[in-house]
Amino acid sequence: MEKIKIIGGQPLQGSVRINGAKNSAVALIPASILAESPVTIEGLPEISDVEILKDLLEEIGGTVHFDGQDMTIDPSNMTSMPLPNGKVKKLRASYYLMGAMLGRFKKAVIGLPGGCHLGPRPIDQHIKGFEALGAKVTNEQGAIYLQADELIGARVYLDVVSVGATINIMLAAVRAKGRTVIENAAKEPEIIDVATLLTNMGAKIKGAGTDVIRIDGVEHLRGCRHTIIPDRIEAGTYMVIAAAIGEGVMIDNVIPHHLESLTAKLREMNVSVETADDQIFVSRAPIMKPVDIKTLVYPGFPTDLQQPITALLTQANGTSVVTDTIYNARFKHIDELRRMNARIKVEGSSAIISGPVQLQGAKVRATDLRAGAALIIAGLLGNGLTEITGVEHIDRGYSHVVEKLRGLGANVWREKLSEEEMEQVKNL
Ligand code: EPU
Repeated sequence: MEKIKIIGGQPLQGSVRINGAKNSAVALIPASILAESPVTIEGLPEISDVEILKDLLEEIGGTVHFDGQDMTIDPSNMTSMPLPNGKVKKLRASYYLMGAMLGRFKKAVIGLPGGCHLGPRPIDQHIKGFEALGAKVTNEQGAIYLQADELIGARVYLDVVSVGATINIMLAAVRAKGRTVIENAAKEPEIIDVATLLTNMGAKIKGAGTDVIRIDGVEHLRGCRHTIIPDRIEAGTYMVIAAAIGEGVMIDNVIPHHLESLTAKLREMNVSVETADDQIFVSRAPIMKPVDIKTLVYPGFPTDLQQPITALLTQANGTSVVTDTIYNARFKHIDELRRMNARIKVEGSSAIISGPVQLQGAKVRATDLRAGAALIIAGLLGNGLTEITGVEHIDRGYSHVVEKLRGLGANVWREKLSEEEMEQVKNL
């Protein structure tokens, strides 16, 4: 295990290239199970979630080749092997194996997913969709058992707008008999990306990216090549880093349209943001204005950028209020930011941030992926040395983060944990 060390205060400049979207990747890889010949996904991020999914596809008999960017998956010899334990518990997105294996084999056994602890994260809407398609779903000893004689298209109304449930139902429905209609569907760009891959495989999907998705089931799906969309949350994180301490940072390989809510908020704060076709250029403001932010489903402000922007708002000149309406307990980063001298109160699902303060370097722990991003931002701004443990969370979603930050001029490096620190982690 490692920690990230940062000596803060160094202004950043230059360019950084964004990788493929984690939250697309973790759905595109399981989607390949539905094909009958090899699928190649280009531009994947080199993150641990991708490596774990590769291993899981191999466990069920897939042949997978990954060169750190492009992955070719031959699903022809896959079986409906049960995956009740082991690696499946390491990531939240292993729930996509349910929809994909149900769609292909009409049965699956998948351990209940892990991932970041952001408060309760139920999967009742996924299950509602599988049951509507005719699957029997039971929960036995921490694993979900799914079984159907056949899957028959149905109308599914989502009671909660859910990215995961929308994609999972789409995965199960593309090889069902007849038409499935998902109403109150999520509209995130990652859903369009998965629908594009499935359509290239021969699926019939209309309306992805709107709140009604219609899927006409087909009997067979073939392999294809697909290029993943850029990661809007990784891009957004670097935009926030540039707003915090950037003296002109070019963010390459982005779709600016996917980041309009963040761009609008940064401009409201007086940060300079210029967008081009697939690039965004950000420089910090001499004096930053406070703003109020509420996270919402896409195209609203993403919950995944709530933690990073909270760290930035410690530098604004006044009081900002950030309310998370998606995960109302996603505030574990706040205690750590307070250790670094931030003045933040949590009231209900809101963080109230008073600024500006001079953050101070400290020993802090990333409790989840985006909390890790928030601590990196605070470390880059802080006086002196910050040591961040819990780096395994950061590695789930940010590829080559230390190298990318060093490329912008940051004073940051990784070190192995000492034996004493390893003991402390074990006792957490
Ligand atoms: N929800 C339910 N029932 C369900 C599903 C969701 O009540 O069956 C609730 C959740 O508890 C939450 C809300 O609905 O309050 C939205 O959850 P959603 O299902 O959209 O989230 P998810 O699919 O589990 C994905 C991303 C998250 C991101 C959210 C929201 C993946 C693998 N994860 O999660 O990403 O925060 O959408 O946009 O795609 C991250 O990248 O750091 C991350 C946590």
